Amino acid sequence: MNVRESEIMAQALSQHGSVQTMNMQDADIIILNTCSIRAKAEHKLMSMLGSLRKIKKNKPSLKICVAGCVAQQEGERLVEKMPHVDLVVGTQNIYNIDTLLDHLKKSRVIATDLINDYTIPQFIPTLSKKILKNGLPSPANQQFSRFVTIMQGCNNYCSYCVVPYTRGREISRKYNDILDEVKVLVHSGVKEITLLGQNVNSYGQTNKVKDHGPQANFSDLLHGTSQVKGLKRLRFTTSNPKDLTDDLIECFRDIDILCPQFHLPVQSGSNQILKKMNRNYTIETYLEQIETLREYRPDICITTDMIIGFPGETDEDFEQTMDLLNTVKFHGSFSFKYSDRPGTKSAQFADKIEEDIKSKRLQRFQKRQDEISLEWNQHFVGQKKELIITAVTQDSLSGRTITNHIVHIFKNEHQIKIGDFCTVRIIYGGPHSLKGELVEQPIVL
Ligand code: 5AD
Ligand code: SF4
Repeated sequence: MNVRESEIMAQALSQHGSVQTMNMQDADIIILNTCSIRAKAEHKLMSMLGSLRKIKKNKPSLKICVAGCVAQQEGERLVEKMPHVDLVVGTQNIYNIDTLLDHLKKSRVIATDLINDYTIPQFIPTLSKKILKNGLPSPANQQFSRFVTIMQGCNNYCSYCVVPYTRGREISRKYNDILDEVKVLVHSGVKEITLLGQNVNSYGQTNKVKDHGPQANFSDLLHGTSQVKGLKRLRFTTSNPKDLTDDLIECFRDIDILCPQFHLPVQSGSNQILKKMNRNYTIETYLEQIETLREYRPDICITTDMIIGFPGETDEDFEQTMDLLNTVKFHGSFSFKYSDRPGTKSAQFADKIEEDIKSKRLQRFQKRQDEISLEWNQHFVGQKKELIITAVTQDSLSGRTITNHIVHIFKNEHQIKIGDFCTVRIIYGGPHSLKGELVEQPIVL
């Protein structure tokens, strides 16, 4: 989501006449787009702002801007702590970044209002031809693969999570706006689209979108998007198991371009902890969902997020998390030590877990996950996979499979370009990547 929002700001500014630079020393405006989901992300911002203070000392005309979740959360406080910050842009204000920068000529600006009946503006990246030409400093800078925001905000209030406070209420974009954006992208050469939102499963369900056309839910949106001619791969993120409906699970069976890859954050293997987290599902229902998904798409790769050391997590709760890992055998996971976030319910919980216990549990979890990921990667050896090429050097290629695994090929005999499709046979499975050899001439689509 942050990558897409950085793109939107870059796009707005380039339409306004700004040119991007990869060199910080050359910049007249520096925008730090921030995340505050875990304490670590916020610490990174503070240390970055510390370094920028020195640059600004030598170049007082430099404008420093902080955007995104930390900006939203901290507002005024941010400039009190860091007086060299000129502009604070909250999560709903990024679309106006160009106008806000104009106001800076007069005074410092803090724009952090959150509006409940907010509509996400249409920001079709047609206009992004200039950006595509100039390039963007983000992994999304690949004309063949783009993100499309379908909704913003969250109404779930998981007890540890800052998102409902930093991004406000759940708001869905209009069905037709989303399809128009996808069509424009595909027409300009995009082959892979990832639909984005904090909680995509509840698309269209809350804050019913005015002028929605047919009352679409998320599976309707997936079906509609998959009909866009020329689109080859469709993905989405992020989901909450509590809103995972049967018709959405069926999409994995019925939509052929929907990639068999599902990031389904579970957060803990203990029902007691899930309850304290306010997640509103049980491990039993989660396991049933996984079973059905695997029945419909046997090649599906399931990944998850896990919080280790949530307040009150006993040894037994943690063992249940390890059991879940061993039962589901996730292809991969993102695991984090629990950290207090400002304003959340769990920050008030008394039964916090000591840092060294959290670290030991996290280490054990990650070690086991690495073993499981390696087993999966070795299991792929000998299989044929279709790749979309993401990087090309003189004597090597890299690409992504439909399950989003990265494959390296140490040969480039076909003059293959970024964005081409080709088929490989996997010849090696390592802990974090795969190696393959080309088995067919590339199909250029
Ligand atoms: N502490 C640790 N991890 C957290 N996450 C969200 N809030 C916290 C927190 N307070 C993790 C969750 C979420 C991911 C994006 O970040 O696992 O899915
Ligand atoms: Fe945060 Fe829960 Fe909403 Fe995800 S579903 S953004 S974890 S509150």
